Amino acid sequence: MKTILKQTIPASPLDFFHNPYPLYDRFRSIHPIHWGNLLKQPGWYVTGYEEAKMILKDTRFINRIPLPLASKKYDELKNIQNDMMLFKNQPDHKRLRFLVSNVFTPKTVDQLRPYIKQTVNELLVSFQNKKTMDIVSDFAFPLASQIIAKILGVPREDRYRFREWASSSIQTIDFTRSRKVLDNGNAEMLIIRNYFKELIMKRKVRPEQDLISLLIKEEQQGDRLTDDELLAACILLVIAGHETTVNLISNSMLVLLKHPQQMMELKENPLLMERAVEEFLRYESPTQMTARVASEDIEIKKKKINKGDQVYILLGAANRDPKQFHEPYLLDIKREPNQHLAFGYGSHFCLGAPLARLEAQIALQSLSAWKDNLQLSDPEVQWRKLIGFRSLKELNITFD
Ligand code: HEM
Repeated sequence: MKTILKQTIPASPLDFFHNPYPLYDRFRSIHPIHWGNLLKQPGWYVTGYEEAKMILKDTRFINRIPLPLASKKYDELKNIQNDMMLFKNQPDHKRLRFLVSNVFTPKTVDQLRPYIKQTVNELLVSFQNKKTMDIVSDFAFPLASQIIAKILGVPREDRYRFREWASSSIQTIDFTRSRKVLDNGNAEMLIIRNYFKELIMKRKVRPEQDLISLLIKEEQQGDRLTDDELLAACILLVIAGHETTVNLISNSMLVLLKHPQQMMELKENPLLMERAVEEFLRYESPTQMTARVASEDIEIKKKKINKGDQVYILLGAANRDPKQFHEPYLLDIKREPNQHLAFGYGSHFCLGAPLARLEAQIALQSLSAWKDNLQLSDPEVQWRKLIGFRSLKELNITFD
């Protein structure tokens, strides 16, 4: 039985963007799989950890292009997203994921360790004589751009363009997207597409030691990857690997500055960093929501989900489910076990998780050891009005 909770949005939507967790708890207390109308398209809101995992690993819940009602106006966006593994189902998903993960391996990522350290150091040195820094735009964004651009083989002088691209693209896959966001996103996608088309052409003529050249090699070893899929794979890596990593670094820094005792512990014992990053991923998950569609009638935990129903999986809520996490509202950098769902679960589990983890560990290690007196300029921070992502507008800090 679908009972729609009438007042699903808190008194002020701003409260929700500031702190979505009470609403998640409210949904979960009704049922961990709850029919609601928080977003334009009603659907099932999954807030329970066990339920989220069940749905993410169940292939009867499929991914579909997130622009179901889009008109021809948004063809640019729609076509590119159609070719991204993130929105593909089997067997295409398996094929694409296999090809990309063949060249984007945990080993490739580990080899980047010195480059990430060097980039972090250069960024911090450039702020050595200053007294303030916006962690989001002065540190996390340039870091994430440099790294993903280096992996793909984007020339240094073009890397600054990534921020705008990533930022507008991420909004187009958030369920709060407006027509204006889609208009901008579509126009921006045309630019991104042309940019990468040209770069791919160049690498076809003169291959280098970068991911684009390696993907081209895969493409040329048979008809396993089309030109459009190759293009979409590059764009997906820029989008998926960018904002989320920026958010992980910025959210973690915010959380640490609000928990000075745990910041101190990390400084004294850097070996705690790996576990700490897992806790930051759980506590302020950069991706708060993903979605699926039921491909047939499915009964789960006594809820009858009909074919075609939209299912919203609230990863940020699952990661604070008290049935799975002891005292979920408590930040504990030594939490164990900590099997959070911040990178998803099942066949679409984040391909970039090793890179995101490594970047965050190095960035936070260097930042926390950098100065003794890092402080928030203002304890009240502003969050972007996104429902699928936990993303700070800025994070200004001061230091001597
Ligand atoms: C903290 C940073 C990150 C977070 C929180 C994150 C989160 C996620 C989540 C939740 C999914 C699954 C979506 C779903 O099941 O619908 C996903 C998929 C994906 N992520 Fe990440 N991600 C991060 C960083 C990265 C990075 C750095 C890259 C690459 C450079 C990346 C590439 C991908 C790709 C390619 C997929 C699609 C996998 C597939 O469909 O098989 N991500 N990510």
